Amino acid sequence: MLSQKLHEALNAQINAELWSAYLYLSMSVDAEAKGLKGIANWFYVQFREEQDHARILMNYLLSREGRVSLQPIEAVRTEWASPLEMFQDTLKHEKEVTAMIDNLVAIAAEDHDYASSNMLVWFVNEQVEEEEAAREKIQACEAVEGNKFGLYMLDKEMAARTYTLAAQLASSNE
Ligand code: FEO
Repeated sequence: MLSQKLHEALNAQINAELWSAYLYLSMSVDAEAKGLKGIANWFYVQFREEQDHARILMNYLLSREGRVSLQPIEAVRTEWASPLEMFQDTLKHEKEVTAMIDNLVAIAAEDHDYASSNMLVWFVNEQVEEEEAAREKIQACEAVEGNKFGLYMLDKEMAARTYTLAAQLASSNE
């Protein structure tokens, strides 16, 4: 059985992942409204991935006889001054998520809950990738600052991002 503390923290994480999804959806529609369809696509894929993260945690809770309790999702910001600001916010947010994941790992370790520790390894690795991706995009946006053609090319590049269902989600459904 999951400890009460871990059970609550996992439910809080589900809410945080859904909030993340909401945040990236907001960035996506803001970018689209400004004619940046590639950047809108990049954040839309991010939106879908965050929903997967929440679903992985829901599946895990259910597999451990836990209860999923979906809480209200707080409002998110609706406008950013530039793509650079969006990716700066993304990195800041992902660092907060990383701290939450680290906290879950610490609780699982305290509980000697090896199944939870094992499940969380995927999230630990995912956060490294999430932060790295945001940092790369910040650098790319900085490199083209003030250069409309550069932004056009960057937007085109981000249009190529495609969504794939998180591998972990598929395996956690087995
Ligand atoms: Fe689910 Fe972007 O962390």
